[in-house]
Amino acid sequence: MYTLESLEGYCQKCNKCPLHMTRTNVVFGEGNPNASIMFIGEGPGYNEDKQGRPFVGAAGQLFDRMLNAIGLKREDVYIANIVKCRPPNNRNPLAEESESCIEYLRWQVKLVNPKILVCLGAVSAQNIISQDFKITKNRGVWVELGKFYVMPTYHPAALLRDENKKRPAWEDFKNIKKKYEGLKL
Ligand code: URA
Repeated sequence: MYTLESLEGYCQKCNKCPLHMTRTNVVFGEGNPNASIMFIGEGPGYNEDKQGRPFVGAAGQLFDRMLNAIGLKREDVYIANIVKCRPPNNRNPLAEESESCIEYLRWQVKLVNPKILVCLGAVSAQNIISQDFKITKNRGVWVELGKFYVMPTYHPAALLRDENKKRPAWEDFKNIKKKYEGLKL
């Protein structure tokens, strides 16, 4: 059995896939260790790799604003990624990279024990919900996976590329707030 700290220790030394050779820092994830909501992105980008923290670049700043808009702060939630090391040039993680890394995420989910998982983007949803998940077609609908409520929504970087995605993403965030508040009743 791990603790988040001991798991992070293993993860920091991980060399299970070739991404370890090009990383600056492992981005393990961070946040409230007892959060009832966990946000799961794809993998570190340039800024995250430099700082060793998730969602700190431009997409992360938009993510923070969206969180704040539903009354949450980063300290309230837990934030992690499918892969913990940056794929070169921000390409999508390869299947074998995700497969060797997702064990860390499974442990993070087990240890934090959230009620809600939010998949940010297609790569996250494909690794968590189903391989053929289509984010444009299937986002915004709760999926019940075992004891978890899972909400797939757009990745904040996609919102920066395409303004038209902002409104549906905002609807998803309002839905997340509603579910989150319902849990507290
Ligand atoms: N994009 C992600 O998917 N994760 C991060 O941590 C940053 C950008």
